[in-house]
Order: sequence, then C-alpha cells, then structure tokens
Amino acid sequence: MRLIFALFKFYRMFNKRVKIRELLAQEPTGQEVTVMGWVRSFRNNQFIALNDGSTNNNIQVVAELGKFDDTLLKRITLSASLKVKGTIVPSLGKGQKMDLNAATIEVLGDSDAEKYPIQLRNRPTLEYLREVAHFRFRTNTFGSIFRIRHSLAFAIHKFFNDKGFVYLHTPIITASDAEGAGEMFRVTTLPFDEEKNKTPRNEDGTIDFKEDFFGRPTNLTVSGQLEGELGATALGDIYTFGPTFRAENSNTTRHLAEFWMIEPEMAFYDLEDNMNLAEEFIKYIIQYAITNNRDDLEFLAQRLAEEEKQLPQDKRSDMGLIEKLEFVLNNNFERITYTEAIDILRESNHNKKKKFQYPITGWGMDLQSEHERYLVEKHFKKPVILSNYPREIKAFYMRQNEDGKTVAAMDILAPGIGEIVGGSQREERLEKLEARMKEMHIPADELWWYLDTRKFGSVPHAGFGLGFERMVQFVTGMTNIRDVIAFPRTPKSAEF
Ligand code: 4AD
Ligand code: MG
Repeated sequence: MRLIFALFKFYRMFNKRVKIRELLAQEPTGQEVTVMGWVRSFRNNQFIALNDGSTNNNIQVVAELGKFDDTLLKRITLSASLKVKGTIVPSLGKGQKMDLNAATIEVLGDSDAEKYPIQLRNRPTLEYLREVAHFRFRTNTFGSIFRIRHSLAFAIHKFFNDKGFVYLHTPIITASDAEGAGEMFRVTTLPFDEEKNKTPRNEDGTIDFKEDFFGRPTNLTVSGQLEGELGATALGDIYTFGPTFRAENSNTTRHLAEFWMIEPEMAFYDLEDNMNLAEEFIKYIIQYAITNNRDDLEFLAQRLAEEEKQLPQDKRSDMGLIEKLEFVLNNNFERITYTEAIDILRESNHNKKKKFQYPITGWGMDLQSEHERYLVEKHFKKPVILSNYPREIKAFYMRQNEDGKTVAAMDILAPGIGEIVGGSQREERLEKLEARMKEMHIPADELWWYLDTRKFGSVPHAGFGLGFERMVQFVTGMTNIRDVIAFPRTPKSAEF
C-alpha cells in the first residue's frame, strides 16, 4: 500500500506542470518536470527554445539525437505547442544555466511555420504586429508589456485596498451626457434600417427614444466620476477602475476610443490632499513594477535604447527607461499654477522664436499637448502638477476659487506623454454649483441625483482620473498607446 502511494506521489511530481519562470529560478539538480509552451526556435534538430509566457526567458529543451523519430522532430516548428517531460540538468552550453533533457515530447498543436504570421528573425515592426495582434503576445516585447500592465493593475488595487478605499463599479451604460469630457457612443436597440423606416419617430420627425431599450437615450460612459462622488459621499474613499469610451476622432499616439481609467474620489479632501494622493499613487505603482518586473523592464529598456539609436541626437532621451522611472520616484513633482505656466511659456525662447504651432496668446487659453510637453520635457524635466485653471476651460463640477476666475483643478503632466491625470476639488456648495450649471447649459433635471448630494450632508471632496494606458506607456516606454492595450479601439479600427 505504502509503495503504491509513493509511486503515485512520484508520478504526480513527474507530471506536475511547472512554469518556466519558476523553473529557471531553481538550481538544476536532476529534478523531473513537465513543461508546456510554444516553440520559439529549434536548432540542429536537437535544441528547442520553449516559452510559456511566464517570462521572456526560454527553457532549452534538449532532444537527444537518435532518441526521437523523424516524424515527431518535423512537427517541432515555430509556434507549435509542446508538452515536454524530462530531467533538469546543468547546461553544457553557454547562455543558460539549465537544460531540460527530454524523456518524452508531445506535440499539443501543430504550427505551419511557413504560414505563421510572425517570423521572429525578421524583427517585425510594431505597426505590423498591430495587424496580427492575435499573436503579438507571443513576442518578447508584448510579453513584457502585458505582464507589466497586469502588475500595474494589481498594484493599483493593492494601493487603494491598503488605504481602506472601496472599489466601486460604476455603470458603463449611462443616460447622462453631462460631464462633457468627450463625444459619446450611443447605446441603442432601435432599428436603424433607413429603407424600411422602422425607427420610431415623434410627430416632429425626431427619434422617439421612449421606444428604446431604456426608454431614453443612453451612451457608453466617458467617466465614472459623477457616480463615484455618490459613493464617496457615503463610503468616504472609493475608486473606480474600468473601461471608458470617447468617440473623439483623434488619431494620435495617446488617444483610444476605449480606454481604462482609475478614478479615486475622496470625501473631506481638498485640492492639496488630492495632489498628494495622486503623486504618492503614481510613485507607488511605478515602484511596484520596478520591484516585481525587473526582467521585463530591463528588456523594454534595451528595446527602447535600440529604437532611439535610429533617432537624431536631439530626439533621444537623456535617460534610459529604468533610470527615468527611478528619477520620477526620487524627485518631487513640480507644482505650479496655470497662471505661472502661462508666464513660463510666454517668456520661453521657444515661444519667442515662434516654434509652437499654437502660439501663447495669453491667460485663458487652453494648453495644447505641445505646451504641456514643453513644460515637462524642456523646462522642468520632471512631472509637473498644474493647478487652478481658468474656469472657462474646465468642467462644471470643479470648485470655484475666490478669485472668481479659476477653479480648483489639477492636471499631472508626464515626460513623453503629456497629460496623464486630470482631477479637481469638487464644488460642494449647492448655489454655486447650480449657478455654474446654468451658465454652462447643463440640464439640472437630468442630474437631480448628483445635486441631491449637495442638499443632504454635502462635504468638501476631491478626486482625479488616471488614464491607465498612458500610465502603462510611461512605465514601458512604448510611444504608441495602441501597443499597451490588448486590442485597441481607434477610429476606423476594431479588429479582433
Ligand atoms: O482629464 P479627463 O477627461 O478627466 C475625467 O474624465 C475626470 N472625470 C476624472 C476625474 O476627476 N475623476 O480624463 C482623465 C485621464 C486623462 O488625464 C488621460 O490620462 C486619460 O484619462 N484619457 C485618455 N486616455 C486614452 N485615450 C483617451 N481618449 C483619453 N482621454 C482621457
Ligand atoms: Mg483632462
């Protein structure tokens, strides 16, 4: 009986799949293991580089010559999937500390190497990889990006959880389009077949939304903030972390039509508390990635350095990727007001030499991304928190300052990205809020529930929104936002 049990235990051990990342952290001591993964290369009919996505490092599987028959060896091709059982021994070759001496090799899924769309040898471009995004996770670059993206998401939950924040799931479908953060996508079940003219109409020819699914027009949300405020004014501190949608037709390297946003909202916070939390938060998640994703960051740092070699000297960064992240951790963000920023920009040589596409016309103008990037990249050379913007260029809910001209807004600008966070202290005084809504033609009857929080136990409160993909761009050094989300949604593009 005991013998059977021991045999069973041995069998289990031998058959237990181990992840390559875990395996490579061990010492090679003749352990029996099973690994599964995809073939990255097969040399000399003998050496298989196998990858399972847990790390960019492959395990070298050695298929001893003469031990396996030719029909099997022929099926070991680029991106075929394998199950390999064998023994871990110190490697005789250079470049890896261990080999997996294969006892058995099973092909789980064949792959026609000629037709496989990603030939690693040819160094496929990022643009090409976007066209084959269903397979781009199988490259080192995207393996690293998506493991880091995961880590950042995990760190975000940990940061807020450790501080006692409640993760609030705000709705994706919304009937209020009042925030004005961007153009919205309509959500409807109404027929739109023009020919048969089935769309229900009112007498004046407009669409009759009473017939629609929700009995009113609805959209995909641009932000969870307004609902977040309802949570914060009861639970104290909340955060949202979910997808948001903006139908802006902006084909830039920093805009998506579907992106993820983290929106903390805190009761009893003023603008300064808000800035302090945002800075602490950003530093925390960067530190988390540095501690937990060292290999992947080093890989991406190298990639970035190589990419920058193609650029003219003045376009290259002064710092490597990890150096840049450490610099951000070790320095305070610069904090200046909008008014100070306008003065700096107006007096800059860049402006005097008319190098801005949008010249600095004066106080009150909205800042373009070229201005934001001048401030962080050329002037301060570190992240900047800009505060107290003119009320005319900001949302209705921002708290009005005593000067009658500005609101308690704050944006965080990051080198290479521009705006990464937008936030504010909220207007908690009912009369001031109502007056501002009237001026901005925001329908109070649609937002009756929002206004109610200002009628029953209103409190000072503040919050901000961090664009998750822009944060992932910053940490990974990827220049195009389409490369840090699995399946990007952009104008005229929704493949996969
Ligand atoms: O500045 P925004 O529009 O702020 C809000 O939506 C507020 N309701 C946030 C709040 O106070 N709770 O957006 C916040 C951030 C931006 O700073 C930017 O990083 C990101 O969201 N963002 C985008 N990211 C990718 N693609 C887009 N189209 C984005 N629009 C905004
Ligand atoms: Mg903004």
